[in-house]
Amino acid sequence: MAKLSNPFTLGVASGEPLPDGVIIWTRLAPEPLSRASVPGGMPNQNVKVRWQVAEDERFTRIAAEGTATATPAHAHSVHVKVDGLRPGTEYFYRFRVGAPFADTTSPVGRTRTAPARDADTPLRFAFVSCQRYEHGYYTVYRHIAQQRPDLVVHLGDYIYEYGKPANPAPGRYVRKLEPPEAECKTLPAYRNRYARIKSDPDLQAAHAAAPWVTIWDDHEVKNDYAGKLPGDGSDPAAFLRRRTAAYQAYWEHLPLRVRPSGDALQMYRWRPYGKVADLLLLDSRQYRTKTSMLGADQERWLLTRLAESQARWRVVAEPLFFSRRLFAGNRTSADAWDAFAAERTRIVDAVRASGRPNLVVISGDVHNHWAAEVLTDFADPASPSVGVEFVGSSVTSAPPETDVDAVLRLNPHIKFFDGHRGYVWCEADGESFTAEYRVVDHVDRPGAPVRTVARFSVVDGRLKRADA
Ligand SMILES: [Fe+2]
Repeated sequence: MAKLSNPFTLGVASGEPLPDGVIIWTRLAPEPLSRASVPGGMPNQNVKVRWQVAEDERFTRIAAEGTATATPAHAHSVHVKVDGLRPGTEYFYRFRVGAPFADTTSPVGRTRTAPARDADTPLRFAFVSCQRYEHGYYTVYRHIAQQRPDLVVHLGDYIYEYGKPANPAPGRYVRKLEPPEAECKTLPAYRNRYARIKSDPDLQAAHAAAPWVTIWDDHEVKNDYAGKLPGDGSDPAAFLRRRTAAYQAYWEHLPLRVRPSGDALQMYRWRPYGKVADLLLLDSRQYRTKTSMLGADQERWLLTRLAESQARWRVVAEPLFFSRRLFAGNRTSADAWDAFAAERTRIVDAVRASGRPNLVVISGDVHNHWAAEVLTDFADPASPSVGVEFVGSSVTSAPPETDVDAVLRLNPHIKFFDGHRGYVWCEADGESFTAEYRVVDHVDRPGAPVRTVARFSVVDGRLKRADA
């Protein structure tokens, strides 16, 4: 039998850094968009994958190595839990396969462990959201890769489930989805959407440049879903099957520490970065009801974590606009925190009770850049602030029509808006936290340069413009 060709078409990734280890990931897929019953153009058999982690890019100082098994049941994805590494240290990793392939080595990835719990190592990270493939090129990721961050945080909408619209608006179908360009509802369809997206060289470069931590929003499953309900009144049992398939495909394509269990996938979690930052990652979808964004268990966990955090910065990573945002006519979004104001107040109060206004919320979803101060009473602009919110724009997803002037006028705690695609670059240490709003001028063709449109530091829970 002829040997199969290169299986590393979807790149490599690492994630979930702890002081002593990371997860490294790849998926074998010689034909990533194959619609055969076994995904990725793979044979229906287990395949041994050798992996190596080294201290140097040429793999002369090996820190850990072993063999993993890629199985058809998990679309031949490989998640290796590497431990025994040193804290706050850069490593390189690669995979290798033999039969049924010709001997092939993957591209090399760079990763970095989290600092030791008592270290005050500075943290440099980028955060992103909303990368609708058909809306444009992932130029943003090329620029992030070049900055070699310690960490990339993805705040959701890694995929969009939508198919090609019947009549796409001009400029909104820039890149073709995978055939048959239909809405994703089944495991094979979600897998092929990830395969389409992960074939992108700029996205692969960003995954290979740094460890990622990811959370999801709604489009990893279905627009505006809530918990086990589809949000559109359709059959809940069918929706739960769809959600289970979507969660499995999400896990198969990202370097997660946990795997799905039944219809669930544990996503909210705490990632400490030494004494500098406690990163609290939220799940705004899986436990959502009409009255709760997070569900009782997750809310209790968050309030406890916020109360116990001793880090210089308490960074809450979640998908949705956290601060109040009134639109003209005092309308609010029914999907974001304004629809869960009592729950938001309990979170703000937990930070206020500690007496340290060091909350930094990082969020996305709205496809534009914003910055806000998180007030104890959003109706009273003179009320104390417990910290700030940095809202990052989309990687590609087209923005909604927004009456920006009205929003800024009605919400004096919102201090900044920019309407480009982009990402936010953050640097934190034991004293300061700064955020740089980075943008590209176009995504309808590749190659846009990047520039910084604003820079803020956080001083006593307030935003301070710090442009050079
Ligand atoms: Fe989005």
